[in-house]
Amino acid sequence: MAKHPSTVPAKSTQDALTNDVLDGLKKEPKELSPVWFYDELGSFLFDNICELPEYYITRTELQIMHGHAAEMAQHIGPDAALIEFGSGTSLKTRLLLDRLEQPLAYVPVDISREHLFQAAGALAKDYPHLHIVPVCADFTQNFELPQFVRSAQRRIVYFPGSTLGNFDRPQARELLARMRDLVGKNGAVLIGIDLRKDPRILERAYDDAAGVTAEFNINALRHVNRELGADFDLDAFDHLAVWVENESRIEMHLVSKKDQTVHLGGEKVRIGRGEHLRTEYCHKYTLDSFSELAATAGLAVKRVWMDSNKLFSVQLLEPARLQ
Ligand code: AVJ
Repeated sequence: MAKHPSTVPAKSTQDALTNDVLDGLKKEPKELSPVWFYDELGSFLFDNICELPEYYITRTELQIMHGHAAEMAQHIGPDAALIEFGSGTSLKTRLLLDRLEQPLAYVPVDISREHLFQAAGALAKDYPHLHIVPVCADFTQNFELPQFVRSAQRRIVYFPGSTLGNFDRPQARELLARMRDLVGKNGAVLIGIDLRKDPRILERAYDDAAGVTAEFNINALRHVNRELGADFDLDAFDHLAVWVENESRIEMHLVSKKDQTVHLGGEKVRIGRGEHLRTEYCHKYTLDSFSELAATAGLAVKRVWMDSNKLFSVQLLEPARLQ
């Protein structure tokens, strides 16, 4: 996965990113990592997506947090170290922090130093007594926590937003197992998981009438052009969101409208007319399929909170007891 693409990288980092993108473009079918969505414009577009009538995810998760954060906080208990994977979600985090009893620390973990310190700074203003410990790291890789967090009696990983859905099954399992190791046998994981539903609802959520998601998808190419000096023709791709039943996921693709050659890192990449470039997976789970996945990572589902339409879930996982 690409590392830290949203600030100007050092030359060696840029070469690594270029190789990463080239590797994806040489695959069959071609792919581009979803990390390229999130430059400044992409983050702005994502915020707009969250407000769209078709995109039920953010609104529904917030509604669940509003209704049940107090109960979640009770399950978490006093003196917890709350470790959040990603730090772009302060609204949901605040609903939880507001109800936690004497949290020991709040530890946002994010690969983007900029996002991290912005989010931490904003929280520090509103929670002057909270010990905020930002950790700049890629949470898909092993990373170190400060000693006092590692030795906290009750460690909780919070991973809202259904971002786990972006990972394929082996990666999702690995990420869950890393969370399990991080919280230890006395800890827990609180995670937002989007649920399977009518594919028409899902396809609309990823292909809205106003075309914001299409612009968000295309913007990944704009980002690669700017950062790595590529020359993707932004007008020569169509946005596609498709439900893949076998894999229980939405896939976002960019479909080439013509035969074209893209230049990147001194190489030429041919893209045929009608050829697809896959930019994102969004896996959708049933309660059963998610609890099976969690079990393979040594985690057991302890509680599930849902909205009344069962569109989305927030789940509390605990390390499974060994037999
Ligand atoms: C931020 C990863 C949860 O998968 O729904 C939104 C990203 N992609 N519309 C998702 C996204 C297209 C979003 N996550």
